[in-house]
Order: sequence, then structure tokens, then C-alpha cells
Amino acid sequence: MQSALALFALAAVAPLSASALPATATAAASSALPTATSVVSGLNALARAAGKLYFGTATDNTTPEFTDPTYLSILENYNQFGQLTPANAMKWMYIEPEAGVFNFTLGNQIADLTEEYGMVLRGHNGVWYEELPGWVTSTDWNATGLAYAVQRHVSGIVGHYAGRVYAWDVVNEPLNDNGTMREDLFYNALNTTYINIALEAARAADPNAKLYINDYNIEYVGTKSTAMQNLIKQLQSEGVPIDGVGMESHFIVGEVPTTLVENFQAYEALGLEFAITELDIRMELPATDELYEQQKQDYYTVVDACLQVSVCRGVTVWDWTDKYSWVPSTFAGYGDACPWDANYTRKPAYDGIAIAFEGQSI
Ligand SMILES: *[C@@H]1O[C@H](CO)[C@@H](O)[C@H](O)[C@H]1NC(C)=O
Ligand SMILES: *[C@@H]1O[C@H](CO)[C@@H](O)[C@H](O)[C@H]1NC(C)=O
Ligand SMILES: *[C@@H]1O[C@H](CO)[C@@H](O)[C@H](O)[C@H]1NC(C)=O
Ligand SMILES: *[C@@H]1O[C@H](CO)[C@@H](O)[C@H](O)[C@H]1NC(C)=O
Ligand SMILES: *[C@@H]1O[C@H](CO)[C@@H](O)[C@H](O)[C@H]1NC(C)=O
Repeated sequence: MQSALALFALAAVAPLSASALPATATAAASSALPTATSVVSGLNALARAAGKLYFGTATDNTTPEFTDPTYLSILENYNQFGQLTPANAMKWMYIEPEAGVFNFTLGNQIADLTEEYGMVLRGHNGVWYEELPGWVTSTDWNATGLAYAVQRHVSGIVGHYAGRVYAWDVVNEPLNDNGTMREDLFYNALNTTYINIALEAARAADPNAKLYINDYNIEYVGTKSTAMQNLIKQLQSEGVPIDGVGMESHFIVGEVPTTLVENFQAYEALGLEFAITELDIRMELPATDELYEQQKQDYYTVVDACLQVSVCRGVTVWDWTDKYSWVPSTFAGYGDACPWDANYTRKPAYDGIAIAFEGQSI
């Protein structure tokens, strides 16, 4: 869209001043809980002014959110979102439902939107142990057969979107929380070589895409992060292409790790870039004023940690409104994890993000 491109250019030239544009979210508070007071033009505009590539969001065209005009009217605002990750559309069960038969319909819809809106596209994902089609989970694989299937899958999807994707989560969640390799069907047939096969296929299919491994509980100093760094070193020693690590960052209010920056610097020291790829900060319901204020502080802490390490490319939230968050259905009793509430009102968490990108202290 022309407006998105114009804003893109503006953001690249000079920081948008907080007073230059009117607040866009002035919806009246719909509950007693506090709402954002920030009058900044948008989180992506602030992220870009701060030297990051984007502030972005996951979005899911396999769910009703894509038929919700209010949702879409905010999603398309480049000032707020400069990057999209398809939450489901590019996962194996959707994109290669039959062996060697690709269906790019849903993936193309998100890829086309990023271009229409002038946004960056993150490919998600290549190889993961969940959301697999039946033909993958029900086959009694030998190593040769599965190596071929992984190579064909990654070549097929990365090749289809070649030139349109900033970064791919080529391998998703390969580690257990105790730092051992997850013993999924890929590991059981191929040991860690499935990771090599996937990364090499991705590089060959799109030499310009940044190739990432994405995981959770690697955002802070600990066993799992050390294991991820060891895996990266092993890949590097074998000459396998690897450019970055995705820090998922599904956190809990009041429990955001204190070693984010130190941990991020360890990845930087390996010559990698990284991104915050799936940020949300959930609270035990019911929400209170105090939890909302702590959540504001917590969002600030995460975004500020990204700003402190130059190779942090951007921050992606795992959808931006509580209306469509995956949290309540996954973590019983928890919710309200996003920067916008279920009525599309900006929460104090929004201010926490904005204040961090502005380089202010909270
Ligand atoms: C959304 O609005 C409805 C009615 O307008 C209200 O009952 C509800 O509490 C609001 N939800 C939130 C999260 O503010
Ligand atoms: C491809 O996926 C779309 C979206 O889910 C679906 O409507 C369509 O029927 C699929 N095409 C084929 C050939 O299965
Ligand atoms: C391995 O599996 C493939 C099919 O996935 C099959 O064609 C091939 O014969 C198998 N090889 C061995 C050695 O069992
Ligand atoms: C690590 O975690 C996995 C998955 O929970 C478990 O199967 C395995 O036994 C654990 N290994 C060790 C050494 O604790
Ligand atoms: C995977 O390879 C490593 C290193 O060669 C080896 O120690 C481990 O036992 C292998 N795992 C399996 C399940 O074969």
C-alpha cells in the first residue's frame, strides 16, 4: 500500500516524534483495568527509529481472526507492525499435506499481505515435531527415506518463497528443557543430521534468507541455552549454514528472566544474529491493576534487552490482541498476555514496549 511505503520511508529518515501524530487508539476504557497512555505513533515506527528492523506479530489465517475486520484494520497498520509471522499457514500439515504435494494457498495469503503492507516476512517453520501431516507421523521411516522427505520439504517451501522471506525458522524446538535432543521422529531416524539436512536445503533454496533455529527457554542463561550454543558450535564446525537463533520468549508476568542480556551476548559472540520471535507475557487470571503494571515493566525489560544487543534484529509478539492469543487454551488459568486487550484497547504493556524503544527508562 502506498501509505505503508510512505511511512516506511519516513521512519527510515527520522524518528517519528511522539507529538507529530495523533494517538490512534483512543477507545474508551471498557473495564476498570488501566489502559495505555502512550501517544506514540506506533511500535514499528519506534522500533525502526531505534535501529531495529521491525516490531512485528504472528498472525493466523487458519482461524477466525482473519475474518474479523477490526483485527485486520489494526494488523495492516505499518506504523504498528513491520513484520508478520504466519502462526500456522506454513507449517508442514498445511503446506505439504500429501507427500511431495505442496499447497501454498494459506502461506501465499500471508506472504502477499506482507508485500501489500510493506512488511518483512518471517518463514515459520521448516522442521518441527508438531503439526505434521499424517503421512509423516504414520510412516515407519528409515534414515534414507526421512532424509529425502526433509530435504524435499525444506527445499519446496523455502524455494517457493525465495527472495520474499527475511528469515526462516528452519528448525523449530529441537531441544528438551534439560538440554538433550528432543527424541522426535526426525532425531530417532537421523540423529542430529536432520538439522544439517534442513539448513543446507534452505541455504540452497534461498541463499539470501537468514536461517534460524527457534526454541523456548533458551532466552536466559541455563542448561538449555548452553545446549543450544553447543549445537550451534557443532553446526558451525561442520560448515553447516546457520545465521541466527529465535528466542521465543513466552514469559509469565513477574517472572521474566534476569539474564536476558548476558545470554543474548553469548549468541552474539558466536557470530549469530537473533530475534525475539514469539513474545507474550501471561498472567494468572483474574487480571488486576498491579498485574497490568508488572506486565508493562516486563515488556519493557524484554524489549530493552533486545535494544542492548545490536544483533537483535527485532521483536515479534505471538499475536497482539488477547482476543486471539493461544495462551488461555494452552495454559489453564492464564491469559491477558498481549499488548492489546480483547477489545483492542492498548494496555499498559503497550506503553512498556514504546518506552523501551524510545530509549527512556520506565
Ligand atoms: C470488553 O468489553 C466488554 C463490553 O463492552 C466488557 O464486558 C469486557 O469486560 C471488556 N473486556 C476487556 C478485556 O476489557
Ligand atoms: C489448499 O488449501 C486451501 C486452504 O486450506 C484449500 O481451500 C484448498 O482446497 C487446498 N487445495 C487442494 C488442492 O487441496
Ligand atoms: C527406506 O524407505 C524408503 C521409503 O521411505 C524405501 O523406498 C526404501 O526401500 C527403504 N530402504 C531400506 C533400506 O529399507
Ligand atoms: C531429558 O528430558 C527428556 C524429555 O523430558 C527425558 O526423556 C530425558 O530422560 C531427560 N534426560 C535426562 C538426562 O534427564
Ligand atoms: C546421536 O549421535 C551422538 C553423537 O554421535 C551419539 O552420542 C548418540 O548416541 C546418537 N543418538 C542416537 C539415538 O543414536
